[in-house]
Amino acid sequence: MSYTLKLSAGELSRYRLMAEYARDTETADWTAAGIGSGARVADVGCGPGAMLRVLAEIVGPTGAAHGVDQDPDAVAAAGEAVAGLGHASARAGSAAASGLEPGSYDSVMCRHVLGHNGGAELEIVSHLAALARPGGTVVLVDVDGTATRMHPDDPDLADLTDRYLAFHRARGNHLLAGVQLGWLLEQVGLAVEMFRHIGPLMRIPPGLRPAGWAARDALVEAEFAAAEDLLRWERAFARLDLVTPRPWGHVAGFLAVGRRPAAS
Ligand SMILES: C[S@@+](CC[C@H](N)C(=O)[O-])C[C@H]1O[C@@H](n2cnc3c(N)ncnc32)[C@H](O)[C@@H]1O
Repeated sequence: MSYTLKLSAGELSRYRLMAEYARDTETADWTAAGIGSGARVADVGCGPGAMLRVLAEIVGPTGAAHGVDQDPDAVAAAGEAVAGLGHASARAGSAAASGLEPGSYDSVMCRHVLGHNGGAELEIVSHLAALARPGGTVVLVDVDGTATRMHPDDPDLADLTDRYLAFHRARGNHLLAGVQLGWLLEQVGLAVEMFRHIGPLMRIPPGLRPAGWAARDALVEAEFAAAEDLLRWERAFARLDLVTPRPWGHVAGFLAVGRRPAAS
């Protein structure tokens, strides 16, 4: 199934914001999962590489950080994000058959990918588990898409969120993917060491646009929106950018860590 979020300068800055927020709030989880200096890590569904860059900085030149994505534009952007770091790279591949070396990673991360792959979640997580070395970990991050909130809200932007969710539902995607993470890890034989809510809950900076906006062309193509809706949402974002004090936004994100048995 084709992917729906189009890369743009705005999307790249959204990914960087998410990666920096994750570095600020998840470092202890990553350390416990074995992501530290000298570790060999994979980032499956790495997108434009904002997180891959953070991982490459953490593992340093004695480690390795390998990104994989099915979207050639994302692979190119990820390659640029880690340019100059000889221990980091990005390649084209699928989340269920990445082409990375099985059993060779201290930790395999996969963020915001499962919610776009309705029906293939177990196949993907099973592949991620096979990439980890015995005793290595899989780190999953995903959201409960039905719990995205903003306050004060704007009815036009709430409408964009509703249509984006309806679009995902129609494609067979699991809107509660984040809530499934612990179960998925157990299904593929990993021991769940962590499963927690990670937010974010933050003031929305001016200029930030949600994933639904990056999917606008796909929404129009699938007839979940029309050209007039895009204009209406553009006007709503222009209004939102002027609101003071800044509104609060909540995304129900979840992080789960599963460990492969030492002798498997
Ligand atoms: C929402 S982005 C997240 C990017 C990155 N993991 C992050 O959190 O910043 C999802 C990425 O996963 C990729 N993706 C989705 N399904 C995939 C699949 N089945 N195989 C490989 N890549 C996939 C998309 O192309 C996209 O770049």
